[in-house]
Amino acid sequence: MVAVIDAHESLDSTNDRAKSLISAGEVSTPVLVFATRQTAGRGRGANRWVAGSGSLTFSVVIDPADFKLETAELPLVSLITGLAVRDAISSKLGDVCVQLKWPNDVLINRKKVCGILVEIERAGAIPFLVIGIGINVGVDFRNASVEIRDRAISLNDIADQSVDPSEHLIEILIRLESELGDYRDSRAFPRKRYAAHCALTGRTVGLSSGDRVTYGLCRGVDDGGGITLENEAGSSVYYGGTITHIA
Ligand code: BTN
Repeated sequence: MVAVIDAHESLDSTNDRAKSLISAGEVSTPVLVFATRQTAGRGRGANRWVAGSGSLTFSVVIDPADFKLETAELPLVSLITGLAVRDAISSKLGDVCVQLKWPNDVLINRKKVCGILVEIERAGAIPFLVIGIGINVGVDFRNASVEIRDRAISLNDIADQSVDPSEHLIEILIRLESELGDYRDSRAFPRKRYAAHCALTGRTVGLSSGDRVTYGLCRGVDDGGGITLENEAGSSVYYGGTITHIA
């Protein structure tokens, strides 16, 4: 999967570093940008992803043409990446509930263990995709606020022995390449596999977009990667927004 490795002890953000390599024309894909510590990591919207020791933070730069991806398919790339990460974590941890929270989180026992941020950056007219992944490996949440402790988890919290981040990194890269290759060859989002691990299906959720929250019973994710919500107004598919409530 990776042709070039750009590894750092500390970076503001691996996604920002990847974007600056692209805009400087210094990228020969696929590239792995890796940082042991990340001081100004970004999440979706205004979210931050600050990562000290105990986090696995990296970004993979791909040429969408290598996977026959249109830039409009970016939301699907986020979901496909989630599947790759979910399966990688699950394969290493065994009998643990690892699920997907649409659109870009991986959960263990219903708490967030991984966030994904997929962005486009252009070198002139040529678009590249930056797939940023942050995983709590050994982050110690014991002194964090109750709110964070209720919502976040580390791999080390549930593993029998201390987890080796590099093993997860390699497993994720292998699975990500395979998932993207399968999508290129089939042009079909693996909706059924996603559904099998979706933490939201069958639950009433609130989808926030700007100031508006839409509530509905989640009926899963469609072929285009949108979430289907059913309420008194009928059934609608949404491609943007953030799930802020789960009943
Ligand atoms: C989210 O949960 O909203 C997405 C979080 C994504 C964090 C990762 S860490 C590596 C990469 N670099 C960043 O600045 N962000 C992503």
